[in-house]
Amino acid sequence: MAKTLPALLDKMWTDYVAINPLAQKIYNFFISRGDTVLNDHIALRTFNHPRLTIDVVAAPFVASGYKYGGDYHFPEKKLYAKHYEHPDATLPKIFISELKLEEFSAELRKTVDELVAQIPAGLEHTFDFTSVGRPWKVSKATYEKLMKESDYAGWVAAFGYRPNHFTVFINALKSFADIQTLNSFLKEQGVKLNASGGEIKGTPAVFLEQSSTLANNIEVQFSDGPQTVPACYYEFARRYPLPTGELYQGFVAASADKIFESTSKGQ
Ligand code: NI
Repeated sequence: MAKTLPALLDKMWTDYVAINPLAQKIYNFFISRGDTVLNDHIALRTFNHPRLTIDVVAAPFVASGYKYGGDYHFPEKKLYAKHYEHPDATLPKIFISELKLEEFSAELRKTVDELVAQIPAGLEHTFDFTSVGRPWKVSKATYEKLMKESDYAGWVAAFGYRPNHFTVFINALKSFADIQTLNSFLKEQGVKLNASGGEIKGTPAVFLEQSSTLANNIEVQFSDGPQTVPACYYEFARRYPLPTGELYQGFVAASADKIFESTSKGQ
């Protein structure tokens, strides 16, 4: 069990690449080119159930020196999010979103309540909760039912508490001048990028450009057997300096809105 921030971040990465081996492969490409890979942010997903709010999920990071950095609204996806930053700028920001359950059907809320009721008492307050994986049993039918209302609810039900994605900080990649060059390189390697809203989300004018791979499909063991479902993706972010000269550290809701679709079915 991870007890320190570096151990927790390592455990989250190890778990993430086990589910998304393409991220390890891309990471290795960068290393073989002599690049330094820093993570811009790690994204986590939750429900705004009282036991599992953003604040609960963020607690180990806050206890490790992270500070609240901003919040974001995604009305169409019925999500709310906050990001956290560490005084050590080489550490990834933590971006945590939560599904606003009150905006969904009574049936969805009841299903989520039933999942949450299975979590062992206090597990959500353990230091490495963000790497425990799925803390409940869920059937294929329940997963499909959730997916009908919200891809996001389906993802959390199937994967639980682990990174949805890691994001490479492009500025630190010395061998790529810009996000366009990086995207071309990735496509030459056969990597499929999320094209929802265009491959590049954001512009220098909003101080942030992002792109991402499509989520890979993996076989998940549900309580009544295996099924192949969209899992995790790898993201890339380039930040631009604000008029003050400091790099912008926030997120752009309009861009993240499209990136959430990387885990949608049928992409
Ligand atoms: Ni992201």
